[in-house]
Amino acid sequence: MADFELILRGGTVVTAADTFRADVAIRHGRIVSVGSGLGSADRIIDASGLLVMPGGVDSHVHLAQHAPPGTPQMADGFETGSRSAIAGGTTTVISFAVQPRGASLRESVRDYHTKAEGQSYCDYGFHLIVTDPTPTVLGQELPALVMDGYTSFKVFMTYDDMVLNDRQLLEVFDCARGCGALVMVHCEGYDSIRFMTERLERAGKTAPYYHGASRPQSVEREATHRAISHAELVDVPIMVVHVSGREAMEQIRWARQKGLRIYGETCPQYIALTADDMKGFNMDESGGKYVCSPPPRDHASWEAIWEGIRTGVFQTFSSDHCPFFYEGPDGKQNAKGKTSFRWVPNGIPGVENRMAILFSKGVSEGRISVNEFVALTSTNHARMYGLYPRKGSIAAGFDADIVLWDPNRKEVIRQERMHHAADYTPYEGMEVTGWPVMTLLRGKPVFEEGRILGEVGDGRFLARELSPYATSPGS
Ligand code: URP
Ligand code: ZN
Ligand code: ZN
Ligand code: ZN
Repeated sequence: MADFELILRGGTVVTAADTFRADVAIRHGRIVSVGSGLGSADRIIDASGLLVMPGGVDSHVHLAQHAPPGTPQMADGFETGSRSAIAGGTTTVISFAVQPRGASLRESVRDYHTKAEGQSYCDYGFHLIVTDPTPTVLGQELPALVMDGYTSFKVFMTYDDMVLNDRQLLEVFDCARGCGALVMVHCEGYDSIRFMTERLERAGKTAPYYHGASRPQSVEREATHRAISHAELVDVPIMVVHVSGREAMEQIRWARQKGLRIYGETCPQYIALTADDMKGFNMDESGGKYVCSPPPRDHASWEAIWEGIRTGVFQTFSSDHCPFFYEGPDGKQNAKGKTSFRWVPNGIPGVENRMAILFSKGVSEGRISVNEFVALTSTNHARMYGLYPRKGSIAAGFDADIVLWDPNRKEVIRQERMHHAADYTPYEGMEVTGWPVMTLLRGKPVFEEGRILGEVGDGRFLARELSPYATSPGS
């Protein structure tokens, strides 16, 4: 009888705090020992020359999300989205369960479980998107769901089918304060966007490029400031998600300097894409492949985002994977989107490329340390969203969710290599240095050298603890 089921031998272990040479021993899906001369194992994997890092935790992923009737449906459900995740080194995703207006949140959560159960290659949890904060939702459903492990909410300051007004935002913040949930806020101002959209359309400016012009940074900054002010009024921490550039970033920094607990998230699109990508080849529809909200900005914004990453404005680097077909199986998925940017579904795929993009531009190009990389792609997500100390590090007791990473491998991101269901990647042709060689989910190799070894249904639902970054309930 061997001492362990698996030993990863001879690699360089990287955590958010340290980098050191060590073997990692795994039993029953967990890391049981990290060190040297650990003993025997049924299987030894040679990790020499590779980084042994915690599997990515991507706390902002949209899979199988309900789309309003008559609008394009999401390209990825749990099967293809989670397959794409493990192929990129990510072993946990937190997706969203949306409450359609007028519906019960509890029932909506059940629907999302049906879509995910037995369908996922990686572990998963759910944030709750609150679109209709009725007294029943605020007083009964949300507190009960938080107790059941749905310990974070997302609210929107824009989108017709999701937008909350200021009073509703305050009510949800107050509810989160009472039950100890962490609120993620989509900060873009609804009225400003509507005003700009109509003005652009009247001027005949309907190409995808004008999506960016309909929601410039001032629109994001105003909403960020408003969300922060509401959080201050209620005395509750919030997470400002998908920050695109300097304007919103400065608001978060300002709030933190005042002592407010305002956290920040940013995404690959804000260090790898620009508004010019939305021009397509010649202001054509292919620009629609880059439409997301907030939109990609410019090179100065990339630098601002790096400054925010380096100075701790951002805790998490998430994909905001929100995939739609460009053409779709029938070739006309986006027909309406060709009449005006207003109808192009907002969101792009990226769960498979998140880690490689941050590693390449961050670690390989010398902007951040490999430990900061681990914090930004795994550890901080686990900490913020109640998955620590189960996910997010390499140490005895943690789930053996591990990515073996070749820091020197040069690869080119290509759609034909992707494991998602979307029919394009916005990162097509991007050259990266640093690539996942093998992904292990609870000790099981689920991806190796471009091949999926895991099975659909390997992934389990994660009921999450309260976030230590939220308010303690009852305080
Ligand atoms: O454009 C985006 N990001 N769509 C996804 C939904 C959201 O706001 O996160
Ligand atoms: Zn066993
Ligand atoms: Zn959002
Ligand atoms: Zn999103």
